[in-house]
Amino acid sequence: MAVQTVAVSTDSSAEAVDLGPAAALSCRECGERFELGPIFACASCFGPLEVAYDLPSGSPEELKKRIEGGPDNIWRYAPLLPVPADVADKPNINPGFTKLVKADNLARELGVTGGLYVKDDSGNPTHSFKDRVVAIAVEAARAFGFTTLSCSSTGNLAGAVGAAAARAGFRSCVFIPHDLEQGKVVMAAVYGGELVGIEGNYDDVNRFCSELIGDPLGEGWGFVNVNLRPYYGEGSKTLAYEICEQLGWQLPDQIVIPIASGSQLTKIDKGLQELIKLGLVEDKPYKIFGAQAEGCSPVSTAFKAGHDIVRPQKPNTIAKSLAIGNPADGPYVLDIARRTGGAVEDVDDEQVVDAIKLLARTEGIFAETAGGVTVGVTKKLIEAGLLDPALTTVVLNTGDGLKTLDAVAATSQATATIRPSLDAFRAAGLAAG
Ligand SMILES: Cc1ncc(COP(=O)(O)O)c(C=O)c1O
Ligand SMILES: [Zn+2]
Repeated sequence: MAVQTVAVSTDSSAEAVDLGPAAALSCRECGERFELGPIFACASCFGPLEVAYDLPSGSPEELKKRIEGGPDNIWRYAPLLPVPADVADKPNINPGFTKLVKADNLARELGVTGGLYVKDDSGNPTHSFKDRVVAIAVEAARAFGFTTLSCSSTGNLAGAVGAAAARAGFRSCVFIPHDLEQGKVVMAAVYGGELVGIEGNYDDVNRFCSELIGDPLGEGWGFVNVNLRPYYGEGSKTLAYEICEQLGWQLPDQIVIPIASGSQLTKIDKGLQELIKLGLVEDKPYKIFGAQAEGCSPVSTAFKAGHDIVRPQKPNTIAKSLAIGNPADGPYVLDIARRTGGAVEDVDDEQVVDAIKLLARTEGIFAETAGGVTVGVTKKLIEAGLLDPALTTVVLNTGDGLKTLDAVAATSQATATIRPSLDAFRAAGLAAG
């Protein structure tokens, strides 16, 4: 097996950091390498840093066996993640290994014949995929000696940080736009950490956090999606690993992924590439599709216009978890969609609601608005002939509908309210036959 060797100095502070196979940080733009640490931008070109590994040696069969014998959570992939070997014994929220649902009813409705699957990440501990990224960031925070965990969040991340901090024994202080859904606010507050609503949108929250991180006020804080971002991002690779393992160690042909900052989409691609490199799946083409809400669609707008630059937008959509107007990984999403032959598309709020209800009605899965975006975009891409219905397709549901009840509350109410009598029920016209 190829081992990526990395030139890093071995001074005592570097040796103290045990993040398993993580060997260094490398700049995505210029390739310069840095020692593992709570840094996120290249000192030479300001490009984003990502984790470089000494990937495991040995045969693919041995590695598969090791993974399959591991715990039923993301730690089964510990040899491919920036975490210590004994990570499963540490207090963490242990997310992952969520269901890959074969969605035959939805497939019939959408005319998909090649196999349609929903990767249902609402099954994570705080009911969104964010538990994956936070679980990894917690291990980095531990390794770097932080005692407070923080983040800027569109809602789900704040809840995931609150829960993981509570379990792992960190203080937490998280920042959200002040006008999020009640379900998101309560989920972020209930774990007992500090929750701060910022008067502004997510991009304002993010800007504030960037200032805080450079100020003595934020000293000693691990911001999971800022100074721990290179580690945090790696958590999304586990979605790629799980999907392939659950398909019997095969790549899907097409994947539809929601986009906020774009981190998840880029790291799923990274995960698929690693599986190919390690020989865990057979190399074949796959297409990656990105999904946005029309009211916050900077990446799909750039994709459809053929631009390489993503122009920031002011978000206005019910899909608040995806409401990032200035997505950090937007240009990389464009590269991946174009390189793989995929696309980036968007749907309006009405289509989001229709798609939430379509998924619920056909598969018994209640998605949050982000899931409505991916299902809605999947339908639109099929209708446009961009997504091939004859190929194996995986659609991500990244969050639980209970967090965004308002999106469907107006159109999902009791069919009838009656007195407790058979006569009243008969009169309501709902009896069988
Ligand atoms: C439910 C849900 N899905 C998808 C995303 C998109 O994540 P990313 O910022 O990695 O693109 C988010 C981000 O907050 C989210 O909350
Ligand atoms: Zn660089």
